[in-house]
Amino acid sequence: MGNLALMLAASFTTLAHAQSQDPATLNVLHWWTSAGEKRAVDQLVLQLDKRGLGWNDAAIPGGGGMAAVKVLKGRVLAGDPPDAAQVIGRTLTDWADLGLVLPLDEVAQRGRWKSTMFPVVLQVVTHGGRVVAAPLGVHRINTLFYNQALWARLKLAPPRTWDDVSQAAAALRRAGVTPLAWSDEPWQVATVFETLLLSEGGASLYAELAAAQRPAAWADARVLRALTRLRWLRQLAGDAPGEQRWTNSARQLYRGDAGMLIMGDWVGGELMAWGGQAGRDYACAPVPETADMHLYSVDTLAMLQSRRQRGPAQEKLADLVTQPSMQLAYNQAKGSVPVRIDIDPAQLDDCERDSWQTLAHPGSRVAPSIAHRMAADESTKDALADALHRFVTDPAQTPERAQERLVAIVKGAAR
Ligand code: GAL
Repeated sequence: MGNLALMLAASFTTLAHAQSQDPATLNVLHWWTSAGEKRAVDQLVLQLDKRGLGWNDAAIPGGGGMAAVKVLKGRVLAGDPPDAAQVIGRTLTDWADLGLVLPLDEVAQRGRWKSTMFPVVLQVVTHGGRVVAAPLGVHRINTLFYNQALWARLKLAPPRTWDDVSQAAAALRRAGVTPLAWSDEPWQVATVFETLLLSEGGASLYAELAAAQRPAAWADARVLRALTRLRWLRQLAGDAPGEQRWTNSARQLYRGDAGMLIMGDWVGGELMAWGGQAGRDYACAPVPETADMHLYSVDTLAMLQSRRQRGPAQEKLADLVTQPSMQLAYNQAKGSVPVRIDIDPAQLDDCERDSWQTLAHPGSRVAPSIAHRMAADESTKDALADALHRFVTDPAQTPERAQERLVAIVKGAAR
């Protein structure tokens, strides 16, 4: 157990009783509270229960997980960590460095993760040569959802290029429909923006921006084009769209009140939870100019160290959630794709199958999400999201000024 975890656990043992005392029941903290997210978690809980493992839910509302990460930090500092938690990307590696998570090397070995999982997934769950979390699913961020009924009625072509999007927007407006569902919530603006960085800059510039965080790359003319494109997209949402939840944007699309939505494919899970079906009620296309690219966010469950010594149950959880049947059951509901390369993609819906096949294709380029912690730590991603929020909500701010802000943030983070 890491030094920090030991110190914290020693000083606050009294709080442990809040959680279940049953050694085969784990307290799990996450931010999956929308209809689609909950439906996917219910799949896990059901399947785990069949295999003798209990799930004591500690769900924290708030898309994108800002509130959940704060609550989780508070519980760890209070010596009352959950047994498992949705800890992803940079948060995961930072916490592994602090000795807060249980290594899962043996589970990974027994489960033959090395030969059954996507290389990018193995990379995300491996840190300092140790396996530090159980992967649940891979979300594709560079996804453009569109309403199938509207597309059929207006005889529109699938939106593959920005021209297609522009022509569809004009046709939707003529039909009295809002072209694009949108939210000014900072994390949602940042999620859309990173897809535009990939679209304008391609995978190599994106790698410079995300992985290397080279300030010079953020000063590139293509970043400026992405900012201009971001402002153009927001105008497709009508006047002052406001800070609505992502589920409201998904509902607008589902009802046909809006024609398109750019967001991670957790939207698919939501539309399915409402009875929607990919290929019938809605469809997906890669954000224009990103077809052979996968902008990913891998959801992972970290097993947290604590005096409760739930190692056997935590290892069992890590093993079970990575097995083919549970992977399919969870991801079919969540809208993400299984982390495994040995599943049959015919069992996935149209949107998920395209995402999985893009991941599996040797010629595809994968890119780590900045907005969803795959490439940037909590404070950097929040600072970038706030700067983008201010840019889109202040028409007086020029793209050049916004770019200066982004460069300054990355420079500050690199220090
Ligand atoms: C992401 C998370 C997804 C999804 C989304 C919306 O950060 O990885 O699983 O739930 O937030 O809340």
